[in-house]
Amino acid sequence: MAGKGKDELFFCGNCGYESKKWMGQCPSCKAWGAFSEAPVMRTVSVKGRSGNVISGVRGLEMIRPVPIKDISASEEERIPTGFDEFSRVLGGGIVPGSLVLIGGDPGIGKSTLLLQTAANVAGGITGEQDTAFAENKGAAGEGGRQVIYISGEESLKQIKLRADRIGDISDNLRFVSETNIDKIIALLEKERPELCIIDSIQTMYTEDAQSVPGSITQVRECAQRMMMCAKSLGIATFLVGHVTKEGTVAGPRVLEHIVDTVIYFESGEQFGYRILRSAKNRFGSTNEVGVFEMSEEGLKAVKNPSEYLLEGRPVNATGAVVTCLMEGSRALLLEVQGLVSESQYNLARRQANGMDYNRLSMLMAVLSRRAGLDLNALDAYVNIAGGMKVTQPSVDLAVIAALISAAKNLVIPGDTVIFGEVGLSGEVRAVPQAAERVKEAAKLGFKRVIMPQINVHGLKKGRVQGFDMESLGVEVVGVRFISELFGIL
Ligand code: TYD
Ligand code: MG
Repeated sequence: MAGKGKDELFFCGNCGYESKKWMGQCPSCKAWGAFSEAPVMRTVSVKGRSGNVISGVRGLEMIRPVPIKDISASEEERIPTGFDEFSRVLGGGIVPGSLVLIGGDPGIGKSTLLLQTAANVAGGITGEQDTAFAENKGAAGEGGRQVIYISGEESLKQIKLRADRIGDISDNLRFVSETNIDKIIALLEKERPELCIIDSIQTMYTEDAQSVPGSITQVRECAQRMMMCAKSLGIATFLVGHVTKEGTVAGPRVLEHIVDTVIYFESGEQFGYRILRSAKNRFGSTNEVGVFEMSEEGLKAVKNPSEYLLEGRPVNATGAVVTCLMEGSRALLLEVQGLVSESQYNLARRQANGMDYNRLSMLMAVLSRRAGLDLNALDAYVNIAGGMKVTQPSVDLAVIAALISAAKNLVIPGDTVIFGEVGLSGEVRAVPQAAERVKEAAKLGFKRVIMPQINVHGLKKGRVQGFDMESLGVEVVGVRFISELFGIL
């Protein structure tokens, strides 16, 4: 054969392994008969501008660096999910061609959320739904898009049963029950939907990998193929991934670096609501949360979680304090409960539900040393109502107030919100986004906010744009030291 010489290169069509000689079996991936001649790898010599001879490779397209001003970065239009709560967590809607992993325990509602989202996208529903999905009918409205929902977990019949609960679904949304990822990619290449759901990545397999579906190798390989597919065809893709209790076996953790965005669907299950939280997002911030509750007709967005979290709280009970947290850009009001009682044992008990035990111990030490309230001989319990886990120090002042209220039998008026960080000297330190917190309190009808003096100072000086304390009708009380609380409460 002409041209056969030392420039000859062969490569494995399966894994890309290169070799100077043809081989029957690839030493790298062990595939048989996959070797072929590489057409592009013959070197040529080109005369450079300075007259030097530059070696290059013929047939390879030249790559070219570009200056920053030539890169257009107009953000592509995002696809609305139909749930503001979900869109916000994604960073403002679904980015075309992005690969998003939704992880969560089995039964949390991943399939339901994605089915509803798929139905919304197919039906052209853009905004938050005030009412149950069923009333929106989900029929193909203007702007409906092609969506394919691929289930490897459920038969079409089972999907139908679920779909019946959430309402009418546009014909733009079509279903496939399949687990062979290569067949799925071939289908997507042909159909080119704008959105595709793979439920779940653990059930998918490719014949090119030897291990069983659900193994790390399969899961990673299938996700990688979906990534290529999403990017090259511009199909926004959601992958469902189960987190096992151990978090190891084929957990979606191995996928986190492959995908663009990772969202976890978590619960305070016994409390009936579920929280969407993004752990990684190439297209938005990672500290937004979305709150949902499961109903008879699928998931419903909880538009005002504060109201939800405060529902049924006792009014004018001792030990109950409302505080305000920030979850991303969103202010959340919730109740902190404290209880102290005579200890039956030599060693007093302390229990912290929803907050760090060590933080509680520290706050109790500060209370005793800096404010003279000695709780050493008493059992003390602190509970964050609603099953929330609070890690922000801005809850400190509310915990202190709850303990004071419980120990002194003082009722804190039900229209009061308290927040602030507490330091070891008993000083009350500033918290971020105080204006947002005050606004949320006002929105829910609270009349008095007890907060760090330094934040009050900031607000009064009008440093926060568009924040007008007068019009809110809230009395703002600043504190510098925790000992001042006794006088105020
Ligand atoms: P599912 O979406 O199947 O969870 P996952 O895909 O994360 O495993 O839904 C889980 C639960 O939600 C299931 O126990 C049934 C319940 N459910 C409702 O309460 N209402 C509904 O309308 C639907 C569709 C499901
Ligand atoms: Mg499911």
